[in-house]
Amino acid sequence: MTLNELKHQGLKKWVEEAVALMKPKAVYVCDGSQEEYDRMIDICVKGGLATPLNSAKRPGCYLFRSDPSDVARVENRTYIASKTQEEAGPTNNWINPVELKKTMTELYTGCMQGRTMYVIPFSMGPVGSNIAKIGVEITDSEYVVANMHIMTRVGKKVLDVLGTNGEYVPCLHSVGKPLAEGESDNGKWPCAPLDKKYISHFPETREIWSYGSGYGGNALLGKKCLALRIASVIARDEGWLAEHMLILKITNPQGVSKVVCAAFPSACGKTNLAMLVPTLPGWKVETIGDDIAWMKFGPDGRLYAINPEAGFFGVAPGTNMDSNPNAMRSIEKNTIFTNVALTEDKDVWWEQIGYDAPGKLIDWKGNEWIQDKANKAQEPAAHPNSRFTAPARQCPAIAPEWEDPKGVPVDAILFGGRRPSTIPLVHQATDWVHGVFMGSIVGSEITAAALDLKAGTIRRDPFAMLPFCGYNMGDYFQHWINIGKKTSADKLPKIFFVNWFRKTKDGKWLWPGYGENSRVLAWIFDRCAGTGKAVETPIGYMPTVDAIERPAGVSEADMKELLAVDIEGWKKEIADIRENHYPKFGNRLPKELMNELDAIEKRLGK
Ligand code: PEP
Ligand code: NA
Ligand code: MN
Repeated sequence: MTLNELKHQGLKKWVEEAVALMKPKAVYVCDGSQEEYDRMIDICVKGGLATPLNSAKRPGCYLFRSDPSDVARVENRTYIASKTQEEAGPTNNWINPVELKKTMTELYTGCMQGRTMYVIPFSMGPVGSNIAKIGVEITDSEYVVANMHIMTRVGKKVLDVLGTNGEYVPCLHSVGKPLAEGESDNGKWPCAPLDKKYISHFPETREIWSYGSGYGGNALLGKKCLALRIASVIARDEGWLAEHMLILKITNPQGVSKVVCAAFPSACGKTNLAMLVPTLPGWKVETIGDDIAWMKFGPDGRLYAINPEAGFFGVAPGTNMDSNPNAMRSIEKNTIFTNVALTEDKDVWWEQIGYDAPGKLIDWKGNEWIQDKANKAQEPAAHPNSRFTAPARQCPAIAPEWEDPKGVPVDAILFGGRRPSTIPLVHQATDWVHGVFMGSIVGSEITAAALDLKAGTIRRDPFAMLPFCGYNMGDYFQHWINIGKKTSADKLPKIFFVNWFRKTKDGKWLWPGYGENSRVLAWIFDRCAGTGKAVETPIGYMPTVDAIERPAGVSEADMKELLAVDIEGWKKEIADIRENHYPKFGNRLPKELMNELDAIEKRLGK
């Protein structure tokens, strides 16, 4: 489509201004068609950026290798440019928005020379759903267009909903690598050096400006930038929740279903839990989303969740037929792989894919790589943050209601992280504010070794939103508390804290995880159903030792340890929160959370 076909005058004017600033050689408005997707891929293949994979083994799949400097979200170059620093809060990078726009306008000047500007109208959430939001991304990257096709709903149907004056979030993106007359990328992933990268959010004007990176959350602006950072601000203002959560539907052997949302920091297995295959006979888990949940109150006073995305941008290493068979099947076709290794017969390979490297590989940097299992220090063939981009509809476990525009009513919310000690396998909040307290203290131990060096050293990542909250985190806690006052207590989801990552003193896993986590989900299900045996403890409700059936390899003693309240450990935890965590939020910390902290400390005893 051409610019002149745009019926929305405000949008057209915004694009025209971007054209004047960035000076692309051509402008193209995306229609979302398969033909368009194929054309983007074709440009990347011809330009040497993408390798077609074995069409018998992986039809419609392509491998991209990024620049070695452009392999992950860049949190230290990510900014919340609200009018005041106080508004961005203690956990975000802040630059005065006027100053930042000036700096970035200079970078954007002429930045698309020699490239095509693509205008991508996209919907986060089913097109036309009243929970959905529309964004328009301007980009000079065909890789971004192709990924946005998978991760969001793109094109004409979105423009139709937008009409002549609908609201949208403008998202500017450039890889920051203009091409001189006659120059081409020559097969090299275009991006700018780290100190020129900016991933910027302007919460008051609901704008996103991204420059210099072509990778993942830095460049696919519907995901972290819109659906979390900007949406969290909109959600605060409108009384709903935009969260870094998976959404799953669990069905018991009697055919009754519950919906569970779960927030874990990055790399704690959200995608695996979302696609879990239960080991418990007769139980079924279906996937609704693996990364983001938007939750709004329905007319019945319950919270309804939608997955604003349409695809999975998952971490490849560690994904295998044991850890996540549904993910493995989701990526058999029509998938974009980024920074994984390439086999001789043009298939993909990564660390912990479940089998040895079949012969000589090309690693993520484009070099020949031969597996040397004796060498523990061998550089990985796939980058640890290498990814697959796959359509959600290809997941064999996708729930039939995953695109329901009304969303699904949420029964339970889970928080969790990697905690080798102290935090039990599962415990339940006694009420909503206690649950908000649980969310506010989420953290992950960096490594067990670090714990040995400094007991209790954990990186706090409240609600797993540390890199994704678009405003002051203290106000965000308050917003969560306020949400709990908008409906009656019985209509609110029940809140739980889970920890799959407990270890014994000599470093062995106490809990097998993966499909066996269905045993914990079953107890959570039962608690939501009003059954499920529990005892009240100083830290909340906990399963009785016989409430969760033990998986093979877990002894009765292990189970007791997994479900014990470690009084001394919790006292240290409370002290760490009081001394190191809560003070960060200053007077923005809701007093309700301090009250929770005091109350738990008191219950733990002197
Ligand atoms: C991303 O970088 O786009 C991303 C999805 O990050 P994470 O896996 O940390 O959520
Ligand atoms: Na990342
Ligand atoms: Mn994520």
